[in-house]
Amino acid sequence: MTIKIALTKGRVEEQVVPLLEQCGVDVSGIKHKGRRLIFDEDDTFEIILVKGPDVLTYLNNGSVHIGIVGSDILAEQQNSQYDMLDLEVGKCRFVLASTRDYNPHQVRRKIIATKYPTITKRYFQSIGEDVEIIKIEGSVELAPLIGLADAIVDITETGTTLRENDLQVYADLQPVSTKLVVNRLAIKQYKPQIKQLIEALTQAKLTLGE
Ligand code: PRP
Repeated sequence: MTIKIALTKGRVEEQVVPLLEQCGVDVSGIKHKGRRLIFDEDDTFEIILVKGPDVLTYLNNGSVHIGIVGSDILAEQQNSQYDMLDLEVGKCRFVLASTRDYNPHQVRRKIIATKYPTITKRYFQSIGEDVEIIKIEGSVELAPLIGLADAIVDITETGTTLRENDLQVYADLQPVSTKLVVNRLAIKQYKPQIKQLIEALTQAKLTLGE
């Protein structure tokens, strides 16, 4: 019996692999992965590397039992699986940002560019503002600089991208971190193994955080 984990490739992968290793999961394949996407070196856990927005697709479909993904994506996609552990890595925050001359009180209906239309809509609804949202796939910071939008809603980690593009934060929306999410059926089928992994990860967080 193998438990399948969909792990978000990139920054999340880099920070989660040491935690899994600390738990005794064999991550030797991922550490020297090349272009491989499936890692079955470990006896209990098979890991697949996927893009963040695809983690819930695999999880909802039952193709994997566990997903490891940012809370930004879980909030945007409205997760209905079990969010069981905050891994407390990949920490960043959602912000509203724009150029120095942005006027948060402008009368004209604002145009906001973002990779996260649901979160953006929810934020502006919460402050009673109706805005036009333009979905962008990446390098969102460009939008106010080249006149596509008045401002952006995006995640910032170190602040480097905002700073190097001369953008300012106008509002802090919500924090983001990496979550371990479990398929509703899998938690029943594999309860002892999943419980054990969660306990080991909780301990690994403490050990590596020291
Ligand atoms: C994310 C985010 C910002 C950047 C923020 O982009 O959308 O652009 O990271 O990080 P920083 O505050 O540490 O500079 P990502 O690297 O995922 O790429 P993208 O721009 O293609 O979406």
